[in-house]
Amino acid sequence: MINQDTISKIMETVRIEEVVGDFVSLKKRGTSLIGNCPFHNEKTPSFHVSVAKGIYKCFGCGKGGDSVHFIMDHEKYSYPEALKFLAQKYHIEVEETVQSPQNIEAQNARESLYIVSEFAAGFFANELWTGDQGRAIGLSYFKERGFREDIVKKFQLGYSPDVWDALIQNAISAGHKEEYLEKTGLAIRNDKGKLYDRFRGRVMFPIHNFTGRIIGFGGRTLKTDKNVPKYVNSPESDIYHKSNVLYGLFHAKKAIRDTDNCYLVEGYADVLAAHQAGIENVVASSGTSLTTEQIRLIGRFTENVTILYDGDAAGIKASLRGLDMILEEGLNVKVVSFPDGHDPDSYMHHVGSGEFKKYIENNRKDFILYKANILLKEAGTDPIKRAGIIRDIVESIAKIPDDIKASIFIKECSSLLQVEERILLSELNKIRMAKFRKSGSGNASAGNSGVGSSGFQQQNQYQPYPDGPPDNLFEVPGAGAEAAEAAAAEESDLLQEQEVVRLLLAYGHELVSWDQIDNMYIGSFIMQNLADVSFTDPTCKSIIDTYNEEIENGHLPVASQFINNENRKIVELAITLSTSPYSLSENWYNKHNIYVRDESVNLKATILGGIFHLKKGKVARMLADISKEIKTEQDSVNLEILMQRFMFMKTVEREISKFLGTVILK
Ligand code: GTP
Ligand code: MN
Repeated sequence: MINQDTISKIMETVRIEEVVGDFVSLKKRGTSLIGNCPFHNEKTPSFHVSVAKGIYKCFGCGKGGDSVHFIMDHEKYSYPEALKFLAQKYHIEVEETVQSPQNIEAQNARESLYIVSEFAAGFFANELWTGDQGRAIGLSYFKERGFREDIVKKFQLGYSPDVWDALIQNAISAGHKEEYLEKTGLAIRNDKGKLYDRFRGRVMFPIHNFTGRIIGFGGRTLKTDKNVPKYVNSPESDIYHKSNVLYGLFHAKKAIRDTDNCYLVEGYADVLAAHQAGIENVVASSGTSLTTEQIRLIGRFTENVTILYDGDAAGIKASLRGLDMILEEGLNVKVVSFPDGHDPDSYMHHVGSGEFKKYIENNRKDFILYKANILLKEAGTDPIKRAGIIRDIVESIAKIPDDIKASIFIKECSSLLQVEERILLSELNKIRMAKFRKSGSGNASAGNSGVGSSGFQQQNQYQPYPDGPPDNLFEVPGAGAEAAEAAAAEESDLLQEQEVVRLLLAYGHELVSWDQIDNMYIGSFIMQNLADVSFTDPTCKSIIDTYNEEIENGHLPVASQFINNENRKIVELAITLSTSPYSLSENWYNKHNIYVRDESVNLKATILGGIFHLKKGKVARMLADISKEIKTEQDSVNLEILMQRFMFMKTVEREISKFLGTVILK
C-alpha cells in the first residue's frame, strides 16, 4: 500500500489542469477551464475543470472528481495505479508499506504487460545499436534511408534478430514470465507447444500510448520478397487496442497543442521523416483506415487536421470518403498532396527538410475545395457527372456540424462549381432533413444547442451569435410564483404549438419566394425551420410527424387528411384549427398589439412570427428549468455552469425577440 504521507504529497502537488490537460484540450472560459469531455462523445464542450478546487465535472455525462479519479477513469487504473502515475508525473517518490503477494499480482497483471513491452523495446534497441546483425542490417537500413541517429533514438527504434527465440531467451533470463510474452503477442506458441518470437529479422517500431508507455510494436521486414508481409504488428492485447491508438501521438501531443494542428500520415516512416524535418505535430493511422476513436483522440488536442497524402490520384480518390468522417466529428480538414507519387517520407528525403517544411506549410488546401477540384477535373465537361459532383460535395458539407462553417463552404463551392448558392443550400437542407429524420432526433431541450439553430435559419436570416454569447448578461432570475408560472408556460407552449400547426394546415400549400428561398411551399419551409424543435403536445406532435413523413415521401399533406383521420384528437384539433383561424387567444399579433385584418397580407411575418414565437416559448421553458436548478444547486462549480447556460439561453431569447421585432415592423 502507498503510505499516507506519499498520498498527501501527491495531492498537494498535482494540478488538475495539468493532469487533465495531458488528455483534454482545455480553454479558459470565465474562471474555469472547459473542453470536450473525454468520457463521452460530444462536439460542444461541457467538461469543466475548476483549478481552484482541483476538480473536474462533465455536465454532459456527469463524470467528475479530482486528479486521481480522472486518471482512474481515463486510464482505467486502480486507485494505487493512478497515484503512482501521478507520482511519476510529478517526480514524487512513492513509499509503500508491504503488500500481500496476491494483491501485488492482481494489481500488476496489466502492469506486467507494460513492463515486458518496455523490456522488449530495450532489447530490440540494444540489438540495433550493439548487435552484430542489428548494426549491419538494421542500423545501416535506417541510415541508408536517410534517418538521423537522433530520430532513431527518439522513437526507440530497434532490431529483432533473425532467430527463433532471441527475445524470449533474453526475457526469461531477465525474469519475465512466458505468460506475459504471450499475452502481449511478442511470443507465439505453436501447435507443439513451443514458444517462438513473433518478430524476427525486422526493424522494430515501438508503439506508445499517449502517456508514453509502450503497448505494442510494428516490425518491418528488410527483405524485398513479395511473399513476406512488409509489416508485422502486435496483436490486440489488454494494453493495445488498435482502434484507439495513433502512432506518434505521444511524441506529437505537445506540438499539436502548440500549433493547434495535427498532421496525419499513413506510415511509421512518414512520422519519422516529419520529425526529422522539425515537424513534431504528426501522427500516423498506421495502415488501417482511420477510426472514429482515432479522430476523437486527435480532437482532444486540436480541431485542425491536415492530411499528408501520398501522391497518386487513385489513392486520393479512394480515401476522400473516409475524410467525411473527420468532418463529422467537427474537425477542420486540410490536405497536402505530394508531386510525382511521393509520400511524405520520400518527399522529405527528396527535397530536404527545409524545403519539405515550407512545402507542407504552403500547400495546405481545404479538404472540401480540394475534393471539389479533384472531382471537377475528373468530370471534365460532362454535365451529368458535374451534377453528381454537386451532390457529392454538398454531402460532405452536410457532415459539418457547425452551421456557420458549413455556410462558408457553401459560398466557396458556389463560385468554384459555378452553381448558385441557393441551389447548394437547398440541396444541403434536403440532406440535413433526411439525416435529421433518420436519426429521429430533433429534441429542442438538449443543452444549449438546438433551438433557433436549424441550418436554414443560420444561413439565411437568423444567427444567434456566431461569436458566442456576450458576457455582460448575468441576470439571476428572481424568485416568483413558480407553480403558476410553470402552468402558464405550459399553456402558452401548447398555444404556440397549435398556432404553428394551424399555419401549416392553412398555408402549407402556398408557394412563396422570400429572400433566399425561391418557389418553396410554406409547408416545407415551416418543416425545415422546425427541425430543431420538439413538440410536447402529443396531438400536435403527431400531426407534425405525419407532415414530415409525407414531405419526405414527396407529398404535401392537405388539411383534410387530418380531418379524416382515425385519431379522434387529431380530427378535433384539425377541425378547430382550420375553422376558426383567429380563435387562439395568444396569437402573436395580439400579443404585439398589432391589428391585422388579414394575416395573409403579410404572410412572411405571419409564418416567421409563428415559428419564432414557438421557439421563443421553448427557450423560455428551458430558462425556467435552468433557474429552478440554480435555486437548488449547492455546488459552486455546478452553479457556475448553470449560470453560464442561463446566460446563453437568455441571449438566445433576446436574439429571437429582436428578430421578431424586425419581422413584425417590416
Ligand atoms: P516504408 O515502406 O518503410 O516507407 O513504410 P511506411 O511506414 O511508409 O509504410 P507504408 O506507407 O507502406 O504503409 C503505411 C502503414 O501501413 C505502415 O506504416 C504500416 O503500419 C501499415 N502496413 C503497411 N504494410 C503492411 C503489412 O504488410 N501488414 C500490416 N499489418 N501493416 C502494414
Ligand atoms: Mn513509406
